[in-house]
Amino acid sequence: MTRCVCPGSFDPLTLGHLDVVERSARLFDEVVVAVLYNPDKQGTFTADERVGLIEKSVAHLANVRAEAFANELLVEVCARLEAPIVVKGLRGETDFSYELPMATMNRSLSGLETLFLPGNPGMDHLSSSLIKQVATLGGDISGMVPEAVHGPLLERLGVAG
Ligand code: PNS
Repeated sequence: MTRCVCPGSFDPLTLGHLDVVERSARLFDEVVVAVLYNPDKQGTFTADERVGLIEKSVAHLANVRAEAFANELLVEVCARLEAPIVVKGLRGETDFSYELPMATMNRSLSGLETLFLPGNPGMDHLSSSLIKQVATLGGDISGMVPEAVHGPLLERLGVAG
């Protein structure tokens, strides 16, 4: 059995993230969506809330689960989960410049490999921070986040649905 990890801050999960998780679930026997967070940094959602939103959004995928990890190296999380591969989506060159050093660092630390999936072109503009900015200023974010995330996000940002 091959297990992979889809890591990120997921504050909150977007449809771009979900696309990568769904594609990973077709490539691997088991997928763990790992919410890696810094408890000293204030996010929009707590780690447990992020995990809850992810679990609702992946309920249709039998081989996917979500878990939160605080202040821990990704290589240690993957070793404990017995997952030899990390999967990340790449929306473009900026993502590649951000992700490549991390992938190389992880491989040098423990041999952990990273598999990059090209982002779905229709979703390349989706990022958690940009979506939150658009929603805060009254923009329509339907079609950018999973159904399970939409209501809770508007509520948390204090904007009407
Ligand atoms: O949502 P993001 O910003 O793409 O997630 C980045 C994340 C959380 C996957 C990355 O910062 C990470 O792996 N953090 C865990 C700590 C760690 O292992 N740092 C060294 C990475 S080389």
